[in-house]
Amino acid sequence: MKGVLLHGGMGTRLRPLTYSGPKQLIPVANKPVSQYVLEDLIRTGICEISIILGETFPEFVKMHYGDGSKFGVHITYIYQGKPKGIAHAISLCKNFVGDDRFVVYLGDNLLQYGIEAYVKRFVKGDFDAFILLKDVEDPTIFGVAEFDEDGGLVRLVEKPRVPPSNFAVIGVYMFKPVVFDIIKDLKPSWRGEYEITDTIQLMLERGYKVGYDFVEGWWLDTGKKDDILYANALILDERIERRILGKVVNSKVIGRVFLDEGAKIVNSDIRGPCIIGKNCVIENSFIGPYTSIGDTSKVLNSSIEYSIILSEAVLEGVDRLEESLIGKHAKVIKSSKNRRVYKLNIGDYSEVII
Ligand code: G1P
Repeated sequence: MKGVLLHGGMGTRLRPLTYSGPKQLIPVANKPVSQYVLEDLIRTGICEISIILGETFPEFVKMHYGDGSKFGVHITYIYQGKPKGIAHAISLCKNFVGDDRFVVYLGDNLLQYGIEAYVKRFVKGDFDAFILLKDVEDPTIFGVAEFDEDGGLVRLVEKPRVPPSNFAVIGVYMFKPVVFDIIKDLKPSWRGEYEITDTIQLMLERGYKVGYDFVEGWWLDTGKKDDILYANALILDERIERRILGKVVNSKVIGRVFLDEGAKIVNSDIRGPCIIGKNCVIENSFIGPYTSIGDTSKVLNSSIEYSIILSEAVLEGVDRLEESLIGKHAKVIKSSKNRRVYKLNIGDYSEVII
């Protein structure tokens, strides 16, 4: 079994952060989203993984994952360039896959319980393709499954205006190499992409054995700011243990707080679950639940909760920040004079709510 991790796409809904890096490298609980995906692939026993790169800072992805040795696996890279669809990305993997079965995993999808159980079912059932479905509130923004009266899967539609069910096709797909013959016959969709849903639809029409299962636990497609913050809260809630490696001076640190090496908390209140990265300085501040602060950031005379701050950012005199996503090297500072003015120097597509 091999793994294909898709790391392309423009990330338009996560601007301005995606002007300086791919969306899948945005950290959740101080770890890039796509690293959870990689680790999930590795947990299933896969050790040959190809990462498909897009046009948005592919060099950052290679820098982070390297040849895979730090994760104990072998990673190679394939350039997709322009985002021409998931099926197009898969078509580029023919040589990498060879005669093996493989799992395709979108680098911005997170699953509470991972994929291991489903991969076993795919292999055991000797399926040609296997997909995972999850009931969602708004199916119109996903690929959607249609069932017949006996509950059998009959059709898949991409982002239907009138959805045939509430079951979205999530971003994990398993195939035998026969899929490459199917993709050759695809035509681009109305959005100009070679769709994964059309691929599986064609497999159904041609009588291939397509299996499916319903995902247990939560599934998140971290394509927007709110989804990233929600993912951050869920991961902090479920996977962070209390660990104090940094220094705590005259402060209250309550609950599951991960304070990384070299970080310093002075005259502050910290309430978990939260994570504070290496060499951070937190002074005269309140850090509330569901907050992740990247390495070497400073929070001074401020209060913040349910937020993500990337590395080397500065927050000073800010009372109080919530539901915020602050980029690397960004500064949010209260003017020292007591004037009621806002001075903004923010990038394209930034959002400031005051
Ligand atoms: C893609 C697929 C869609 C699937 C979704 C899951 O959508 O085309 O079928 O439901 O991923 O995250 P896109 O991210 O391209 O809008």
